[in-house]
Parts: sequence; C-alpha cells; structure tokens
Amino acid sequence: MKLSIGPSILNSDLSNLAKECQEIINSGADFLHLDVMDGHFVPNLTFGHPVVKCLRTKLPNTGFECHMMVAHPEKWVQPMAEAGVNRYIFHLEATNDIETLVSKIQEAGMKVGIGIKPNTPVDDVIQYVDLCDLVLIMTVEPGFGGQTFMQSMIPKIKYIRSQFPDVDIEVDGGVSHVNIGCCAEAGANVIVAGTAVTGTTNKLKAIRDLREEWEK
Ligand code: DX5
Ligand code: ZN
Repeated sequence: MKLSIGPSILNSDLSNLAKECQEIINSGADFLHLDVMDGHFVPNLTFGHPVVKCLRTKLPNTGFECHMMVAHPEKWVQPMAEAGVNRYIFHLEATNDIETLVSKIQEAGMKVGIGIKPNTPVDDVIQYVDLCDLVLIMTVEPGFGGQTFMQSMIPKIKYIRSQFPDVDIEVDGGVSHVNIGCCAEAGANVIVAGTAVTGTTNKLKAIRDLREEWEK
C-alpha cells in the first residue's frame, strides 16, 4: 500500500499556524492532520472551523484532515466541509448513530474516518469499517501531543488489516522513526506524527526518516 504522512500541528507554533503548515508541506508531508478538541470529549481545547477556514485560504491545495475529538461530531460536519476539510474523522465513542453521521459526512462531500481510543476494543469498530474510507487507531489517550506510543495497540492494526486488505489504516499518537516500522509491519499506511516532525528543527529530515523506516 501507499504510505501517506500527515503531521499533526497540535504542538507547533499556533501563533504562526499558516507559516508552520506551509513549512511542513514544503518538507514533504502528504497532508495535514488538524486536531480539534472541545474540552468535553477530551480534557483539552484547541481550535475549530473558523481557524481551519482561514488556514484554507493560505493553503488552497493541501489535503486537510480533521480529527474531531469532540462530543457532538455531527454538529461540525457542515461547518468543517465549508471550511475546506477533505477528510472528517470522528470517534466511535462520541456518537450513537454512526450510520447517520457517516452519510452526513459523505453528503457534505468529505471522506470519512472512524477513530477508536486505546480502551475501545477493535471488535467494536469492525462492523463500520466498510462504511468508511479510513480507520484511525489511537496509540495514545487522545487530548495531548508528545505522549508515549502504546505498543499494545499494534494487534488492533493487524486485526483490521487481516479483515480489510484495502482500507486506509491510520495511526496517531507518539509515532516516530523508532516505532513506525512496527506500524508498517502491522498494516498501517496513513501515519500521523506530531512531535516527531514539529519538535525538530529539520522537518525535511524528520519526514524523510519516517518514510525510510516505513519502507524498510
Ligand atoms: C492526540 C492527537 C494526536 C497527537 C499527535 O490527542 O490526536 O494527533 O497530538 O502528536 P504526537 O505525535 O506528538 O503524539
Ligand atoms: Zn490526532
């Protein structure tokens, strides 16, 4: 499968967001992973569709994925579509009506991703994979950047890949050149990396190292 790398801008200089994003894209990233938090679903706050909309004007051709760590994901589908988001990832734990939400996202013209937190069993998501373009396996407890990668999530990736050879499987949380190899081996092909990219002075090298390790 083809590798796609989407850095998370969570721990970047948010007062210089457009510049930071441009630099990340110029350093070889495939798309941007935008972490939206509401202080309810996770104990942290970030930004919403108004910021994404402004960012879109500065980066007209970049793929935007929003990772919605929010309590009512259905509420922001239309605003995020209008802001220029390409892929809308919601959390399975945040909704009781997954089918309706998926249809709503598709009708708004976005690709659909479904994410699960570390404590959610992989079996809970299996029945919805066929409806979605991407499954997101969280390898940290959502809420903050810079946490340690949870190796114990690897079997979830393996299991989904064994059942769904073609779906995009994304990993998010603590991914670096040290553990990306085992994500690749397990079957992940969409990689989010926050600190591993934004925490270095040489982003080009950071993204190149990730690619090299994934391909090994
Ligand atoms: C965590 C976010 C992640 C995270 C990535 O709640 O969803 O996208 O910030 O950053 P690192 O790679 O530093 O864990
Ligand atoms: Zn994320």
